[in-house]
Amino acid sequence: MQKRNELYRGKAKTLYSTDNPELLILEFRNDTSSGNGIRIEQFDRKGIINNKLNSFFMMKLEEAFIPTQIEKLLSDNEVLVKKLKMFPVECILRNRIAGSLSKRLGMEEGVILNPPLFELFLKNDAKHDPMINESYCNTFNWVSTKDLEKIRELTYNINNILVNIFNSVDLILVDFKLEFGLFKGEVILGDEVSLDVMRLWDKTTMNKMDKDRFRQNLGGLIEAYEAVAYRLGVNIY
Ligand code: C5P
Repeated sequence: MQKRNELYRGKAKTLYSTDNPELLILEFRNDTSSGNGIRIEQFDRKGIINNKLNSFFMMKLEEAFIPTQIEKLLSDNEVLVKKLKMFPVECILRNRIAGSLSKRLGMEEGVILNPPLFELFLKNDAKHDPMINESYCNTFNWVSTKDLEKIRELTYNINNILVNIFNSVDLILVDFKLEFGLFKGEVILGDEVSLDVMRLWDKTTMNKMDKDRFRQNLGGLIEAYEAVAYRLGVNIY
């Protein structure tokens, strides 16, 4: 597969065109950002770890009949993906109170949410990704009612699959963010499923094993990512 032009450079990943108009190459960089890109640092090996973990999760989801963009792992930090027409929304699923939910409602971190909470945010850096809802998606034609229903159903199914995977290695999946797109009219999981887009706590110690280590200056970001990969049996070398 021939890598062609850089199409889009995000905060931690870059998309390239290929000689096949239906496929793109997604590159995971070592960049790590917080506060909507205000703070960016490089961490050695992070691109490799996220690429391998993303492939691992996406493959597990495919096995459970969740349609994902993934085609093939290409190298340590690159994966071949379908070219999707992305919806301009971020979908967040929360199993416990944490992060912005805790701040917004003044509620204590760690409280279990039953049923898990599904939230939508508009992808708009300049406006700091404001919270939206189904009515906004309808009125502004961001996502059709039918596609949003599918997205919601897929997100809850993905949550069940991921919760089981993490539970089996004594990790708590607190929350995560997903992005979806259309490929030949079908709703498909895009973007990434990595430790950059989820909160994971150790079941025994309640230690944070995700990007909050960077956001909250706790240190040991890469060590935590490596520990999660080790528990899951994912080879990151
Ligand atoms: O910050 P907040 O509590 O809303 O984040 C919820 C979840 O979504 C966290 O796991 C966070 O890592 C993820 N997220 C993300 N990208 C964003 C916003 C949130 O990956 N732009």
